[in-house]
Amino acid sequence: MLIGRRRLRLTPAECDAMRAAGRFNAQLMDYIRQYVRAGVTTSEIDQLVHDYTSSHGHKPAPLNYQGFPKSCCTSVNDVICHGIPGPYRLKEGDIVNVDVTTIVDGWFGDQSETFLIGKVSKTARQVTQCSFDCLWAAIDHIRPGGPVSDIGEAIVRRAKKYNFGVVEEYVGHGVGRAFHQKPNIPHVPTPASRRDRLEPGICFTIEPMINSGSRETQLDERDGWTVTTKDGGLSAQFEHTILMTDKGPEVLTLTLHGPQKGHKF
Ligand code: MF3
Ligand code: CO
Ligand code: CO
Repeated sequence: MLIGRRRLRLTPAECDAMRAAGRFNAQLMDYIRQYVRAGVTTSEIDQLVHDYTSSHGHKPAPLNYQGFPKSCCTSVNDVICHGIPGPYRLKEGDIVNVDVTTIVDGWFGDQSETFLIGKVSKTARQVTQCSFDCLWAAIDHIRPGGPVSDIGEAIVRRAKKYNFGVVEEYVGHGVGRAFHQKPNIPHVPTPASRRDRLEPGICFTIEPMINSGSRETQLDERDGWTVTTKDGGLSAQFEHTILMTDKGPEVLTLTLHGPQKGHKF
């Protein structure tokens, strides 16, 4: 296991390749941002993601990934993650997570944001705020060589203040030349995450999914992808790709125009 883990540590040149992938992915998110508003369909967003990525010579990672049919995930309201873009038209009051992943020269950048469409309910705003705060609480809490469980500890502590549920079945992940690789990055502490270490040179995502009601999930058996809350409550998520350096975490997918650390929705 030690051998496998050691291979996850990137060389300086590989770190730069991941920085480039993260930078392009963030640029894609900044481009998409202006279109995520009432009246647009989620498949129109998907088309924009596809065309922007291809026209810059890169590949949208979700397309055909384990049979996924589109170039990004769009998860509206009670959809927790892996929503498939389609004819649904966004309307005032919705919240929608757009999750984009790009392959740049063989390296993957992965991030997502939840967008508020016009004026939304208090709960919608709070669940969005909570997932954003959870992501940044985790980033602030981790250190080189520290346990992966520092992430789950920080997130659970923050979510408790809101009395919201933290999804356990879907997790962050190592990322690099593969979309999903070791280690798993659960958003609650687990025995494995107490053992795994955030060694300098490892690259991973943090992507907490927060439910306004119970944490329980439900997979849509018809499409095999869409994950919703079991109780019909709202769910929000934010995601960044992070490189652990010997000085601390470096967020590779920071946007220019998106919500910055400390943002109030
Ligand atoms: N981008 C998602 C993640 O953060 C994974 C989506 S897999 C897909 O890990 F096939 F649905 F695109
Ligand atoms: Co991810
Ligand atoms: Co993602």
